[in-house]
Amino acid sequence: MNISRGFLVIGSLYLLVGIGLGMHMGASGDHTLAPVHAHINLLGFAVMSIFGLAYRLIPGLAEGWMPKAHFWLHQIGALILLIGLTLLMLGKVEEASIGPILGIFELFILAGTILWTVNLWKRTA
Ligand code: HEM
Ligand code: HEM
Repeated sequence: MNISRGFLVIGSLYLLVGIGLGMHMGASGDHTLAPVHAHINLLGFAVMSIFGLAYRLIPGLAEGWMPKAHFWLHQIGALILLIGLTLLMLGKVEEASIGPILGIFELFILAGTILWTVNLWKRTA
C-alpha cells in the first residue's frame, strides 16, 4: 500500500468530518464536542497531511517496516481515541471505564510517533 496516499486521503476524510462537526456546533450553539472537533482536525487532518506529504517528498522515508507500523498505529489509535472521546464527552460511558482504554490507544499514537521520529532521523541524516 502507498503510505503517503493513505495518510493524505484519510486525513482529508477527517477534515470533512471535522468541518461537518464544526458547522453543527456553530449552528446548534452546543460546543460540547469542541475538543473532539479540534482533535479530528488536528490529530486527523493536519498531522496526517504532514505525514502524507513528508512520506512523498523525503527520499526513502516510506521504505521499510517503520512507515507501515507508524501508519497503522496512528490510524487505529486516532480512530478509537476519537470515538472513545466522543462517547465520553456525550456522557455515554463512564470516565473510569473508558479512561484506561483511551490510555492504551494514546500509547498506540505515541509508539507510531516514536517510529516516525526514528525513521525521519535516519532518512534525513
Ligand atoms: C467550516 C469549518 C469549521 C467550523 C464551522 C468550525 C467551528 C468551530 C466551533 C463552533 C468551535 C467551538 C469554539 C468554542 O467552543 O469556543 C471550534 C473550535 C475549534 N476548532 Fe473549529 N471549525 C472549523 C474548522 C476547523 C479546522 C479546519 C481546524 C483545524 C485545522 C479547527 C480547529 C479548531 C480548534 C483547535 C478548536 C478548539 C479551540 C479551543 O478549544 O480553544 N476548526 N471550531
Ligand atoms: C494522542 C494524542 C493527543 C492527546 C492524548 C491529546 C490530549 C489533549 C487534552 C487532554 C487536551 C485538553 C482538552 C480540554 O481541556 O478540553 C488537549 C487540548 C488540545 N490539543 Fe491535544 N492531544 C493529542 C494530540 C494533539 C495534537 C497532535 C494536536 C495538534 C496538532 C493537539 C492540539 C490540541 C489543541 C489545539 C488543544 C486545545 C483545544 C481544546 O481545548 O479543545 N493535540 N489535547
